[in-house]
Amino acid sequence: MRSKLVAGNWKMHGGMVQNRDLLGAIVAGTAALHKAGFAVCVPYPYLYQAQTLLRDTHIQWGAQNVSQHDKGAYTGEVSAAMLMDFGCHYVIAGHSERRALYGEDSHTVALKFKAAQVAGLIPILCVGETLDQREAAITEKVVAEQLDTIIESVGINALAKSVLAYEPVWAIGTGKTATPGQAQEVHAFIRDRIAAHSPEVAAGLKILYGGSVKANNAEELFAMPDIDGGLIGGASLVADEFIAICRAAN
Ligand code: G3P
Repeated sequence: MRSKLVAGNWKMHGGMVQNRDLLGAIVAGTAALHKAGFAVCVPYPYLYQAQTLLRDTHIQWGAQNVSQHDKGAYTGEVSAAMLMDFGCHYVIAGHSERRALYGEDSHTVALKFKAAQVAGLIPILCVGETLDQREAAITEKVVAEQLDTIIESVGINALAKSVLAYEPVWAIGTGKTATPGQAQEVHAFIRDRIAAHSPEVAAGLKILYGGSVKANNAEELFAMPDIDGGLIGGASLVADEFIAICRAAN
């Protein structure tokens, strides 16, 4: 039986005082929740603060991106080893905003995924379709391509040491959440595609749903058999909302 995971993706939000208050409330508000796992993925400058405030708590932390290179003349980039220096557990790879805004294709995402694992991080690999692709009924084709590129590059067994996140792009930040049925359909497709390579990896792999998860829809989403938690954007910045979502996963 897979345990659930709720990870917050703060995106480019936060501040030292705001983070201190938010993290303090999340630690306190989830202290009694022992069945699920919880994490926050924060902007790079706040990794030291996250490490300092979370190191002796049940909340794990991570980053939202990582370089595919281990070191060198890559101005502005951050390596996986540097993330490990700050005690990171997770790193998001292939978020749709990185794919859309920064030109990351599945091959680059595969390299980032690999670099993360080599350093000891758990990649949270994001896949998902745009509204045009859903309306063109090619959701499964798009998700399959994103997944297959990773599997061909890193191998199915590497996937066992990762977390997947299905994030329909049309549901991110829009308030338009996929229905539990819509989300379950794609999660089941993803799990079946992985099972064709390895039933064991498929059975043990956490597949999170991301895209306008809120306190008022988390429970019905997390009740779906192939939804193992959530990757939470906007709601992860509001303590009460995020705590309620964590409670729904526990
Ligand atoms: O990575 C999670 C994020 O893309 C979802 O954002 O604001 O729709 O929860 P949001």
